[in-house]
Amino acid sequence: MDISIVGLGYVGTVSAACLAASGHRVIGVDVNPAKVEAINAGHSPVIEPGLTEALAQAVESGQLRATADISEAIRESELSLICVGTPSQDNGALGLAYVMRVTREIGTALRGHPGYHVVAFRSTMLPGTVEGELIPLLESESGRCAGEHFGVAMNPEFLREGSSLEDFHDPPRIVIGELDERSGDVVLAAYDGIEAPVVRNVLRHAEMLKYVDNAFHALKITFGNEIGNICKSADIDARAVMEDFCLDTKLNLSPTYLKPGSAFGGSCLPKDLRALLHHARSRDVEVPVLRSILPSNELQKDLAWQLIRQTEKRKIGLLGLSFKAGTDDLRESPAVQLAEALIGKGFELAIYDRNVSLARLVGANRSYIEKEIPHISSLMRGSLEEIENFAEVLVVTTPDPDFMHVARGEFDDRIVIDLVGLLRDDPPEHYHGICW
Ligand SMILES: NC(=O)c1ccc[n+]([C@@H]2O[C@H](COP(=O)([O-])OP(=O)(O)OC[C@H]3O[C@@H](n4cnc5c(N)ncnc54)[C@H](O)[C@@H]3O)[C@@H](O)[C@H]2O)c1
Repeated sequence: MDISIVGLGYVGTVSAACLAASGHRVIGVDVNPAKVEAINAGHSPVIEPGLTEALAQAVESGQLRATADISEAIRESELSLICVGTPSQDNGALGLAYVMRVTREIGTALRGHPGYHVVAFRSTMLPGTVEGELIPLLESESGRCAGEHFGVAMNPEFLREGSSLEDFHDPPRIVIGELDERSGDVVLAAYDGIEAPVVRNVLRHAEMLKYVDNAFHALKITFGNEIGNICKSADIDARAVMEDFCLDTKLNLSPTYLKPGSAFGGSCLPKDLRALLHHARSRDVEVPVLRSILPSNELQKDLAWQLIRQTEKRKIGLLGLSFKAGTDDLRESPAVQLAEALIGKGFELAIYDRNVSLARLVGANRSYIEKEIPHISSLMRGSLEEIENFAEVLVVTTPDPDFMHVARGEFDDRIVIDLVGLLRDDPPEHYHGICW
């Protein structure tokens, strides 16, 4: 395939060398004549292990050349990958000046394009940028219609400087946000021969994914550092602790606990986090990331409350009271705190939780329920039907499959608030998810 790479910095140069090595004919474009000259001479404009050799080989074999003329490159290719910088502005906002300029130039070049061309953005951009700003620009400059005369995609870059060639040939996944299937097919064809899971979704999904990755990587580093600093203060080998932490691929390094939804609670997480924070404080170790976890969790609880308040209804049915499905443990359960907030604000409340109802009769939690939360205990109902007959708003707080039937009941005006994603795939008519 003939591919243009616009912007020959780290991302562009690595992409150009690797795509040329995969057998594509690549035209690199940059406004900086020194970079164009360097590439045409087979020299890499950036330092990266293996890149000089790969680049020299690609140029020598005739698979790669560079130019400063973007319209020539676009005219002679069916796919362009936009790799220009998106630097931070002084206020932290994302700088789009380079991308806007390139997009305008590509739009102009598309006027005279003889066939179908796909513009794929590799530059990191916030969700909605391609749809909201760049497609309108391409259309107005070209006088042509996206999805008809040309395609658009978002193909974020996940290379790490220092190992980017390896990462290109063995990526964790290939992500393609596509305006339509035809656009995505062209981008995918550029990666022919590379074995990796392929994610294809709408444009803003791909834009977001890049930020999720980088935010998580930054969070992991900072988390490791804060744990390391606590370890050092207690004469514990931080590296050894984190290595053993990583041995747990069931709960620690795994999809577990990475599902957006309800706040956390229960008898361990809040208590142990408080103790660890106290421990760090007592040793004068600053842990701002760890310190922000509980306040963030409180905000998530508040979101649930706001969703209920916004319905302007007064009769609320809580489906689930324990801190997670399948248990009767009510200690620091977000649903208990939500119930208390609702009672405090004068809402009428009915609650169903099979396990808690059983525990009221026989369980170990019986005394906790009777002594600690008698005001809530008296609002418990013995059957889902009682909730169904009572509530104007149903709030699903645990993903118990039994709740599906009730939440999808026949009452047309019943509002369902889902804090755990139980009904996401087939939502009832009046439905609000906490993070979706
Ligand atoms: N560097 C990384 O490791 C990395 C990894 C993933 C994603 N990204 C993202 O990829 C994008 C590019 O990053 P980078 O580090 O390669 O940037 P960079 O600043 O190293 O390179 C950008 C290049 O674009 C060129 N350019 C600017 N305007 C141009 C125009 N109008 N026409 C042609 N060329 C033009 C510049 O001269 C420069 O050579 C950014 O959005 C970045 O956030 C970078």
